[in-house]
Amino acid sequence: MSISEENLPYKERIVLNSWPNTTSIDSYKAMHSKSISNIEDFWANVAKELEWFKPWDKVLVADPQPPFYKWFVGGRLNASYLAVDRHINTWRKNKLAIIWEGEPVDPSGNPIEVRKLTYYDLYREVNRLAFAIRDKLGLRKGDTVTIYLPMIPELPILMLALARLGVIFSVVFSGFSAQALADRVIDAKSRVVFTADAFWRRGRVIRLKDVVDEALRNAQFVERVVVYRRMNLKDTPMKPGRDIWWDELLSGVPANAYVKPEEVESEHPLYILYTSGTTGKPKGIVHDTGGYMTLLHATMKWVFDVKDTDVYWCTADIGWVTGHSYIVFGPLMEGVTEVMYEGAPDYPAPDRWWRIVERYGVTILYTSPTAIRTFMRYGDDWVKGHDFSTIRIINSVGEPINPEAWRWAWRWLGRESVPFGSTWWMTETGGILISHAPGLALIPMKPGTNGLPLLGVDADVVDDEGRPVQGKRGYLVIKKPWPGMMLTIWGDPNRYIQVYWSRFPDMFYAGDWAIKDEDGYIWVLGRADEVIKVSGHRLGTYEIESALVSHKAVAESAVVGMPDLVKGEVPVAFVVLRAGFSPSKELKAELRNWVREVIGPIAEPAEILFVTKLPKTRSGKIMRRLLKQVLIGQPLGDTTALEDETSIDEARKAYEELSRELMGQR
Ligand code: WT7
Repeated sequence: MSISEENLPYKERIVLNSWPNTTSIDSYKAMHSKSISNIEDFWANVAKELEWFKPWDKVLVADPQPPFYKWFVGGRLNASYLAVDRHINTWRKNKLAIIWEGEPVDPSGNPIEVRKLTYYDLYREVNRLAFAIRDKLGLRKGDTVTIYLPMIPELPILMLALARLGVIFSVVFSGFSAQALADRVIDAKSRVVFTADAFWRRGRVIRLKDVVDEALRNAQFVERVVVYRRMNLKDTPMKPGRDIWWDELLSGVPANAYVKPEEVESEHPLYILYTSGTTGKPKGIVHDTGGYMTLLHATMKWVFDVKDTDVYWCTADIGWVTGHSYIVFGPLMEGVTEVMYEGAPDYPAPDRWWRIVERYGVTILYTSPTAIRTFMRYGDDWVKGHDFSTIRIINSVGEPINPEAWRWAWRWLGRESVPFGSTWWMTETGGILISHAPGLALIPMKPGTNGLPLLGVDADVVDDEGRPVQGKRGYLVIKKPWPGMMLTIWGDPNRYIQVYWSRFPDMFYAGDWAIKDEDGYIWVLGRADEVIKVSGHRLGTYEIESALVSHKAVAESAVVGMPDLVKGEVPVAFVVLRAGFSPSKELKAELRNWVREVIGPIAEPAEILFVTKLPKTRSGKIMRRLLKQVLIGQPLGDTTALEDETSIDEARKAYEELSRELMGQR
């Protein structure tokens, strides 16, 4: 569902005359040039707006050398202090921080469970938990832990409690499998794992603790598992000596317990978050504290224009970076009231989200193209009649937003009158880098574009040789360091250099195709590598291939992303079977299920095509590009590198057979 390169709606500009900050593109560009001509002064001025225990000595240091950049060196601060303590000595003390809804509803469709936490509630909860974690679990600054929790308030409370102690955490998305969880626990060498008995998803009980037990069979070094009773299941297995209930951990901790926030160095790792790449296992992206919080502060103001009257809702899951930055640390640091929802978007009906918007009067909505397309598919009747008049800003993230989806959401949710942008960033960048910025300067919108690089961000599009290109597809790069940028890959600094800083000298390589149009707007088109985006979630095709070949029937496999109307892309696998196994419907189902179990439901191939050989170059590299072209029915272009031309005919035949089969089923 990415935007096709040929027909970007370059010329169409939507100017919101009603918006107070409207400015010209030229004046914005002048501000931008100035900001990137001296990034150190520019970002130091932003960082000053945070509260530091000790000011920095140097704004930016390459240590030991580029690309290992450190921001605000010598400075000390604490992310938990910024997100909670700072508000409790102000009028915000009893302002709502989080309005949470559980998934279950009563017969009239109203939520059965709603929890509202003020900043003071949050402060007390965070302190109590930090106290217990420090005194009873003995965790200290620099220790690592893994979090495997659903979307319940305890998740942000825990992240803030750990940040308070300087404990480095790795959150694993609750939809990942036992093996994916085990890989991440092992890589981070986590001493403790935090989880829940179970949670609700589409009316079903998802038993999380069982997954943890399975994962930890291969990670015996984990000392403790802390389990939150979300469902109060009676049959949760607890391993004596290792497992402890969350409430037991907190028992005896005084209600007014206070833990002094650890004054960490600016470059102290706040968290590790695993994400997929082209090869190998998922990489642990490490984020610092000072630079990260600075970028979040800037973008909350510039992109979301947050004010005390706002009710902000980011619909992401905290298991992904969007939730870390724009549910936990960004909004709470700014003292906003935000909505958090546990369950599926269309449960019990496709207007669940709109009822939430109405119930709390949501003013700022941050969501994804895949969600918008899902609602679009359900039809206008589910949005008609709902009150969207409170919404004043919309943003989307995760993948390119196709102009049709943009128009649909702008019409219904935005009443054709609010700023609506597509914010580009990635796990590695920590926060938004390219976006419309209504809080800064509202440049004309163009449906589907990402907009201009934010102030202080030197983003550009370059050709194969690293030269800037305009009006033509190229690679997205960032030419200067920015606060919030990843510090390194956990335990593998060389891979950090190789993946991000080796494609072009002195430029951060994002791995995306992009076009810069004649106004300087950037249009990210999609991944330029072997990474695919399924409903906005990032998956390495290599990971899915590895999962497949770990099955006894599979000799070889190649996975490619096939365009999908709702999910953007879905994985399709070409599979070569081992001798003694033959293609069958049953085996297909078994392999799809296998991938679910090894990685998680999001990675399940939409289709599996059995072939006897894969198209390879003479040096043995699988030509996934050709397979993708077969799937989308595009001309193959240059095939001279192919070792064996018949491989591609076979792939095509397999696909044609499948298409016929699918047609027959309809
Ligand atoms: C990749 C990063 C950043 C939070 C969610 C994804 C794609 C992200 C956009 C957008 C076009 C986008 C890129 C990027 N992407 N936002 N607004 N327009 N593409 O984080 O999982 O690290 O994925 O998502 O391809 O490289 P992530």
